[in-house]
Amino acid sequence: VALMATLPTTDRLLLGPGPSPISSRVLAALSSPQRSHLDPELLDLLDDVRGMVGQVFRAPADHLTVAVSGTGTAAMDAAASNLVEPGMSVLAIVTGYFGERLAQIFARQGAYVERLHVEWGRSVDPAAVERAMVDNRFDIVAMVHGETSTGVCNPVAAIAPLVRRRDALFVVDAVTSLGTVPVDVTAWDADVVYSCGQKGLGAPPGLSPISVSPRARRGAPTSHNFACDFAQLEAFWVRRQYHHTISSPLVYALHTALSEVIEEGLDARWARHQTAHQALVDGLAGIGLELFPDPQHRLVSLNAVRIPPGIDEKAVRARLLSRHGIEIGAGLGPLAGRIWRIGLMGSGATTGNVQRVVAALAEALGRKP
Ligand SMILES: Cc1ncc(COP(=O)(O)O)c(C=O)c1O
Repeated sequence: VALMATLPTTDRLLLGPGPSPISSRVLAALSSPQRSHLDPELLDLLDDVRGMVGQVFRAPADHLTVAVSGTGTAAMDAAASNLVEPGMSVLAIVTGYFGERLAQIFARQGAYVERLHVEWGRSVDPAAVERAMVDNRFDIVAMVHGETSTGVCNPVAAIAPLVRRRDALFVVDAVTSLGTVPVDVTAWDADVVYSCGQKGLGAPPGLSPISVSPRARRGAPTSHNFACDFAQLEAFWVRRQYHHTISSPLVYALHTALSEVIEEGLDARWARHQTAHQALVDGLAGIGLELFPDPQHRLVSLNAVRIPPGIDEKAVRARLLSRHGIEIGAGLGPLAGRIWRIGLMGSGATTGNVQRVVAALAEALGRKP
């Protein structure tokens, strides 16, 4: 008999770029009895999820608020495949790895994509967005709110009115920001805003909340992608017609996670993430470490930490995992080997977890806390 891998039995403290830890309530929800995708009990849960997704996005009542079956990447595909007709032009604001992915996803749908590149580690200047739009008419402007590859938060609220004035559709990736920092689809008047389950909301990956404006659906082509066609998703989620077999355990988990977000309150949740972030900045300073982005650009839920010279960064991460049971992330692309990424998201964003990761880093680096 071939040796089989076994299921995990020990806890890991997930402080990487996602997934974040799931609470015991969310974990328990996953083992509730299975229901079919058209079971009346499941459909009632979907109604709740639609309402709660609208609440956490602060979306207007006329937005379609559902969850795409799939991870954040599927939600990116949903945004692009439902909006783009060949020949459309898109301004993609690229401040890191995920902005570049967004640009590529729009290009694959046949759009002409112009990239506004920003140095990794900085947020985009709204004036640069304004300049990019002066001589060109874009059908769509797409950007990432919380850039997970660099730990930067982009000023969506300042860019939103510029996009609206130019009459373009506005697509915002809130994968790492939702549930951790203010996201306000109503104030932004944004057209497609999507997130994921596994970061600020504290659910497992696999169902990705999305908010779609009526404007985004007017005159939209038939989606090039059947699985995430907005019209089909609406038929299933709202009119209860079969489209795909949504995973009931993931619905239970997302329903529970969203309930926890709403019980805590968005303001309190954002404040908790801010407090944990500040505790981390202070704790890291105590062992001679600092964050990569300047303070005014930082995303509190994803902390990019400069790796000191001469450190075997992979060995440090391996030691954190094996000796301390803590996962942190590596750098991506040009930041590989230059930063670690410490996520403080969802139920992981506590000062207790900050103390644990700072103490573990101090031990692994041989520094006195
Ligand atoms: C900003 C951002 N967008 C999109 C994604 C893609 O999400 P997923 O990995 O869930 O497919 C991620 C994942 O980390 C992300 O951080």
